[in-house]
Amino acid sequence: MKVLIIYDSTFGNTEKIARVIAKTLGGFGEVRLSHIDKMNPLDLEGIDILIIGCPIQRHKPTLGIRDFLEQVSKGTLKGFLAATFDTRYRMPRWKSGSAAHVIAKKLRKRGCSLLLSPESFFVAGKEGPLEYKERDRAVNWARMILEKYNITAEGGV
Ligand SMILES: Cc1cc2nc3c(=O)[nH]c(=O)nc-3n(C[C@H](O)[C@H](O)[C@H](O)COP(=O)(O)O)c2cc1C
Repeated sequence: MKVLIIYDSTFGNTEKIARVIAKTLGGFGEVRLSHIDKMNPLDLEGIDILIIGCPIQRHKPTLGIRDFLEQVSKGTLKGFLAATFDTRYRMPRWKSGSAAHVIAKKLRKRGCSLLLSPESFFVAGKEGPLEYKERDRAVNWARMILEKYNITAEGGV
Protein backbone atom coordinates (compact mmCIF):
# COMPACT_ATOMS: atom_id res chain seq x y z
CA MET A 1 0.00 0.00 0.00
CA LYS A 2 1.39 3.37 -1.03
CA VAL A 3 0.00 6.57 0.43
CA LEU A 4 0.58 10.19 -0.53
CA ILE A 5 -0.43 12.79 2.05
CA ILE A 6 -0.57 16.35 0.76
CA TYR A 7 -1.08 19.01 3.39
CA ASP A 8 -0.94 22.72 4.02
CA SER A 9 -0.34 24.29 7.43
CA THR A 10 0.29 27.86 8.52
CA PHE A 11 1.06 27.33 12.21
CA GLY A 12 2.01 23.63 12.22
CA ASN A 13 -1.16 22.07 13.69
CA THR A 14 -2.36 20.47 10.47
CA GLU A 15 1.18 19.27 9.89
CA LYS A 16 1.10 17.54 13.28
CA ILE A 17 -2.11 15.74 12.34
CA ALA A 18 -0.66 14.83 8.93
CA ARG A 19 2.42 13.39 10.64
CA VAL A 20 0.31 11.30 13.03
CA ILE A 21 -1.66 9.91 10.08
CA ALA A 22 1.58 9.25 8.19
CA LYS A 23 3.13 7.47 11.15
CA THR A 24 0.04 5.33 11.73
CA LEU A 25 -0.26 4.30 8.09
CA GLY A 26 3.51 3.95 7.82
CA GLY A 27 3.28 0.79 9.92
CA PHE A 28 1.36 -0.84 7.08
CA GLY A 29 2.88 0.57 3.91
CA GLU A 30 4.90 3.28 2.29
CA VAL A 31 3.84 6.83 3.10
CA ARG A 32 5.01 10.04 1.46
CA LEU A 33 4.22 13.29 3.25
CA SER A 34 4.30 16.44 1.15
CA HIS A 35 3.73 20.06 2.06
CA ILE A 36 1.72 21.67 -0.72
CA ASP A 37 4.47 24.26 -1.37
CA LYS A 38 7.19 21.64 -1.70
CA MET A 39 5.34 19.17 -3.85
CA ASN A 40 6.34 20.05 -7.36
CA PRO A 41 5.92 18.04 -9.46
CA LEU A 42 2.95 15.95 -8.39
CA ASP A 43 4.10 12.32 -8.51
CA LEU A 44 1.25 9.83 -8.22
CA GLU A 45 3.21 6.87 -9.54
CA GLY A 46 2.09 3.72 -7.68
CA ILE A 47 -0.06 5.64 -5.19
CA ASP A 48 -3.03 3.68 -3.79
CA ILE A 49 -4.43 6.30 -1.42
CA LEU A 50 -4.33 10.08 -1.69
CA ILE A 51 -4.97 12.04 1.52
CA ILE A 52 -5.32 15.82 1.48
CA GLY A 53 -5.60 18.03 4.56
CA CYS A 54 -5.34 21.72 5.40
CA PRO A 55 -6.60 24.31 7.88
CA ILE A 56 -9.85 26.12 7.24
CA GLN A 57 -9.07 29.75 6.49
CA ARG A 58 -11.92 32.16 5.91
CA HIS A 59 -14.38 29.25 5.71
CA LYS A 60 -12.43 27.57 2.90
CA PRO A 61 -9.36 25.47 2.18
CA THR A 62 -6.09 27.43 2.03
CA LEU A 63 -5.11 29.17 -1.18
CA GLY A 64 -2.31 26.65 -1.77
CA ILE A 65 -4.70 23.71 -1.71
CA ARG A 66 -7.34 25.54 -3.78
CA ASP A 67 -4.76 26.44 -6.41
CA PHE A 68 -3.50 22.88 -6.49
CA LEU A 69 -7.00 21.49 -7.04
CA GLU A 70 -7.70 24.04 -9.77
CA GLN A 71 -4.41 23.48 -11.55
CA VAL A 72 -4.19 19.70 -11.44
CA SER A 73 -4.92 18.63 -14.99
CA LYS A 74 -8.14 16.90 -15.82
CA GLY A 75 -7.95 13.14 -15.52
CA THR A 76 -4.83 13.13 -13.30
CA LEU A 77 -6.72 12.15 -10.16
CA LYS A 78 -9.19 9.81 -11.82
CA GLY A 79 -9.66 6.45 -10.09
CA PHE A 80 -7.71 7.24 -6.91
CA LEU A 81 -8.93 6.28 -3.45
CA ALA A 82 -8.89 9.37 -1.28
CA ALA A 83 -9.58 10.85 2.14
CA THR A 84 -9.66 14.47 3.29
CA PHE A 85 -9.32 16.29 6.60
CA ASP A 86 -9.06 19.81 7.94
CA THR A 87 -8.22 21.59 11.18
CA ARG A 88 -10.53 24.26 12.51
CA TYR A 89 -12.30 25.82 15.48
CA ARG A 90 -14.81 23.73 17.36
CA MET A 91 -18.12 25.26 16.29
CA PRO A 92 -21.00 24.17 14.04
CA ARG A 93 -19.82 23.57 10.49
CA TRP A 94 -22.13 26.23 9.09
CA LYS A 95 -20.16 28.73 11.18
CA SER A 96 -16.64 27.38 10.69
CA GLY A 97 -16.98 26.58 7.01
CA SER A 98 -15.13 23.56 5.72
CA ALA A 99 -11.99 22.63 3.91
CA ALA A 100 -12.28 18.83 4.08
CA HIS A 101 -15.75 18.80 2.51
CA VAL A 102 -14.77 21.23 -0.23
CA ILE A 103 -11.66 19.23 -1.08
CA ALA A 104 -13.66 15.98 -1.01
CA LYS A 105 -16.21 17.40 -3.41
CA LYS A 106 -13.50 18.51 -5.83
CA LEU A 107 -11.74 15.16 -5.62
CA ARG A 108 -14.98 13.31 -6.31
CA LYS A 109 -15.58 15.57 -9.29
CA ARG A 110 -12.16 14.62 -10.59
CA GLY A 111 -12.96 10.92 -10.33
CA CYS A 112 -11.63 9.97 -6.90
CA SER A 113 -13.53 7.63 -4.56
CA LEU A 114 -13.67 8.75 -0.95
CA LEU A 115 -12.80 5.99 1.52
CA LEU A 116 -14.27 7.88 4.49
CA SER A 117 -16.28 10.98 5.24
CA PRO A 118 -14.24 14.19 5.46
CA GLU A 119 -12.94 14.69 9.03
CA SER A 120 -12.14 17.75 11.14
CA PHE A 121 -9.58 18.04 13.93
CA PHE A 122 -9.95 20.90 16.38
CA VAL A 123 -7.59 23.64 17.51
CA ALA A 124 -8.05 25.65 20.68
CA GLY A 125 -6.99 28.92 19.02
CA LYS A 126 -5.81 30.34 15.71
CA GLU A 127 -2.23 29.18 16.21
CA GLY A 128 -3.21 26.07 18.15
CA PRO A 129 -2.63 24.06 20.12
CA LEU A 130 -4.59 21.07 18.93
CA GLU A 131 -7.28 20.17 21.41
CA TYR A 132 -6.53 17.37 23.84
CA LYS A 133 -7.03 13.93 22.24
CA GLU A 134 -7.00 15.16 18.64
CA ARG A 135 -3.82 13.20 17.96
CA ASP A 136 -5.57 10.06 19.24
CA ARG A 137 -8.52 10.78 16.97
CA ALA A 138 -6.10 11.14 14.06
CA VAL A 139 -4.63 7.71 14.83
CA ASN A 140 -8.13 6.24 14.84
CA TRP A 141 -9.06 8.02 11.63
CA ALA A 142 -5.94 6.64 9.93
CA ARG A 143 -6.83 3.15 11.15
CA MET A 144 -10.31 3.53 9.67
CA ILE A 145 -8.76 4.51 6.34
CA LEU A 146 -6.70 1.36 6.48
CA GLU A 147 -9.73 -0.78 7.29
CA LYS A 148 -11.72 0.71 4.42
CA TYR A 149 -8.79 0.30 2.08
CA ASN A 150 -8.42 -3.38 2.99
CA ILE A 151 -12.13 -4.00 2.43
CA THR A 152 -11.95 -2.20 -0.93
CA ALA A 153 -8.79 -4.05 -1.94
CA GLU A 154 -10.50 -7.36 -1.17
CA GLY A 155 -13.32 -6.33 -3.48
CA GLY A 156 -15.82 -5.85 -0.67
CA VAL A 157 -16.90 -2.34 -1.64
C1 LIG B 1 -6.68 33.94 8.23
C2 LIG B 1 -7.34 32.83 9.01
C3 LIG B 1 -8.69 32.56 8.81
C4 LIG B 1 -9.32 31.52 9.55
N1 LIG B 1 -10.64 31.25 9.30
C5 LIG B 1 -11.23 30.20 9.95
C6 LIG B 1 -12.57 29.84 9.64
O1 LIG B 1 -13.24 30.44 8.79
N2 LIG B 1 -13.11 28.78 10.32
C7 LIG B 1 -12.41 28.07 11.26
O2 LIG B 1 -12.96 27.14 11.84
N3 LIG B 1 -11.12 28.39 11.56
C8 LIG B 1 -10.53 29.43 10.93
N4 LIG B 1 -9.22 29.76 11.21
C9 LIG B 1 -8.50 28.99 12.22
C10 LIG B 1 -7.64 27.93 11.53
O3 LIG B 1 -8.43 26.87 11.11
C11 LIG B 1 -6.50 27.51 12.43
O4 LIG B 1 -5.58 28.58 12.43
C12 LIG B 1 -5.84 26.24 11.91
O5 LIG B 1 -6.63 25.12 12.17
C13 LIG B 1 -4.48 26.03 12.46
O6 LIG B 1 -3.87 25.06 11.67
P1 LIG B 1 -2.39 25.27 11.14
O7 LIG B 1 -1.53 25.38 12.37
O8 LIG B 1 -2.08 24.03 10.38
O9 LIG B 1 -2.31 26.48 10.30
C14 LIG B 1 -8.58 30.77 10.50
C15 LIG B 1 -7.21 31.06 10.69
C16 LIG B 1 -6.60 32.07 9.97
C17 LIG B 1 -5.13 32.35 10.18
